[in-house]
Amino acid sequence: MVKVAILGYGTVGSGVAQVLFENKDAITHSVGEEVSVKYILDVRDFDHSPYGGTFVKDFSVIEEDDEVSIVVETIGGATVAHNFTQRALRARKHVVTSNKELVACHGLELTRLAQEKGVCYLFEASVGGGIPIIRPLTVCLAANRVEEICGILNGTTNYILTRMIGAGLSFEAALKEAQENGYAERDPSADILGYDACRKICILADLAFGKNVDPQLVPTEGITGITLADVDYADGAGKKIKLLGRAVRQEDGRVCAYVAPHLVDASHPIAGVDDVFNAVFVRGNAVGDVMFYGRGAGKLPTASAVVADVMDIARSKGLRGAMTWEQGDAALVCGTDELASRFYVRVQASADTLRSQVGEMKLLARSGATPGEAAGITEQVMTEGQLRAKLSGIAVLSLIRVLN
Ligand code: HSE
Repeated sequence: MVKVAILGYGTVGSGVAQVLFENKDAITHSVGEEVSVKYILDVRDFDHSPYGGTFVKDFSVIEEDDEVSIVVETIGGATVAHNFTQRALRARKHVVTSNKELVACHGLELTRLAQEKGVCYLFEASVGGGIPIIRPLTVCLAANRVEEICGILNGTTNYILTRMIGAGLSFEAALKEAQENGYAERDPSADILGYDACRKICILADLAFGKNVDPQLVPTEGITGITLADVDYADGAGKKIKLLGRAVRQEDGRVCAYVAPHLVDASHPIAGVDDVFNAVFVRGNAVGDVMFYGRGAGKLPTASAVVADVMDIARSKGLRGAMTWEQGDAALVCGTDELASRFYVRVQASADTLRSQVGEMKLLARSGATPGEAAGITEQVMTEGQLRAKLSGIAVLSLIRVLN
């Protein structure tokens, strides 16, 4: 029998216990032996939980129990979770996690520690919730040189934008719905400011490009500046606003990685990715474009990916080995200003002023527009720096990249 300890009985941790319990027969059949939960670590009391006898509050009980071979870390954050993960790996226990912050910030250190100790550190659930992406990227697409990864990587913001676009809800009302559905982080600023998507694009970039991409070097913009006016103008232009994480290989080997809202053509497959769903595009030099789609957040979809990692380790007895990447540096990541594109721009000025300063524009109209406001999409491909220089002296209300 394979004995597992779950750290943190929140949304994902309780989902992991539920999936292991409800799918026990299928899991036992697939692994060849039973996978059972021996401990659940949480500082809170859960008097009415069906797993009552398994709760502990002291991590050393798990650390010192040789029967526990796999630790599932679903605490989140990069402090307590970091410490417990290091201790579990040092005790030669495999660790499976959904914790994107920890993997993005300390993944290099932890994967190397796992390698040194001869155990696995797996994190399929850290990107895209229930979508298989880490294993397909590192195994199925391993023959490719990855040219670009681009995706909707945050369910909460995609849900908010979908509700703003489809139902005309305010940002606040849509965020409240997302929180009630258990999609948003406890502190939703990580979602709405783009940090969550930033961590996820960094993990994908680490794996795809083989070098550590530091989240602190990745320009990150969330959706708090998006207004219903932008949503309306975009709609009039046949486009939808989506928050995208992108990592683009440059000819000189550097990576342009960033998170920002984009205008996406309604005919683009990514435009149809709504609600809490995520989608990840990968462009490989041999395979071309591949897209992965599914539920990017939520209790059971995320637990599905965590439990699959647990089963992989239980089946292979850890012989699969740890995946890791090389140390990166600041020179690896280049700024977004090197990535030229078309832009949507909304300004406090007349359409004539906008056109005369910027050049050819597809001017956009909407009913109820504020007098003295104009919006358009540049015809010319340029960098953000070039566009801002042309807009000098004009009050810019919104500036959003258009996905090519
Ligand atoms: N808050 C995250 C999201 C959860 O909304 O995508 C999954 O990582």
